[in-house]
Amino acid sequence: MGFYAEKIMPRLIEWTMSGEPFSQYRRELLADTYGQVLEIGFGTGLNLAYYPEAVDSLTIVDPNPGMGAIVSRRVEASAIPVDKRTLSGEALPMADGSFDCVVSTWTLCSIPAVDQALQEIHRVLKPGGKFFFIEHGLSPEPGLQTWQNRLTPLQKVIADGCHLNRQIQDLVEGQFEDLSVETFYAEKTTKILGYLYRGVATKLGQ
Ligand SMILES: C[S@@+](CC[C@H](N)C(=O)[O-])C[C@H]1O[C@@H](n2cnc3c(N)ncnc32)[C@H](O)[C@@H]1O
Repeated sequence: MGFYAEKIMPRLIEWTMSGEPFSQYRRELLADTYGQVLEIGFGTGLNLAYYPEAVDSLTIVDPNPGMGAIVSRRVEASAIPVDKRTLSGEALPMADGSFDCVVSTWTLCSIPAVDQALQEIHRVLKPGGKFFFIEHGLSPEPGLQTWQNRLTPLQKVIADGCHLNRQIQDLVEGQFEDLSVETFYAEKTTKILGYLYRGVATKLGQ
């Protein structure tokens, strides 16, 4: 991982994703999480303050070691026990059925083998476990889609692999049969980056 990803990306995430409306979306999404939770693509830990008391423990994974310093400060201040791992979502070392909930916020856009990561998310959930996500992605507006497709190669360079044009609902449906999702444009955000997919997918079984 290079200088830009390790030194610049953590600051860019803090600068662009820490205020409103992101905080409100984080709080709303995480309000129903519980038990043993895995968060994929933890970044600098901007979700940590919004986990409710019903969460017993948190395992966090991110392949970027440059997030470490900011994350450590947040983890130290957290009442929830946190197990921090520097690794990718595509190859999780956890056993099948380990978690009650998995969380991903603005991360499925950046994972290179996103289908593989979704397979892993499904695998490590307990039967009946829930995948909570909020992600930006492909807009239904054809004119905007054209620009999202055109600008994705540039966005991948500026934002460490981030795609503007992923159809998040289709991707999650590829792994989960039971899915509730809503889509909307984020407030105060350019439409090209602001078409959001927010949802909960449940792993079937008992
Ligand atoms: C836009 S940031 C979002 C960070 C955080 N989830 C948030 O909401 O603030 C995307 C994150 O995805 C992480 N990421 C990139 N590739 C990944 C992978 N293969 N597996 C897991 N996370 C990955 C990046 O390191 C980065 O922290």
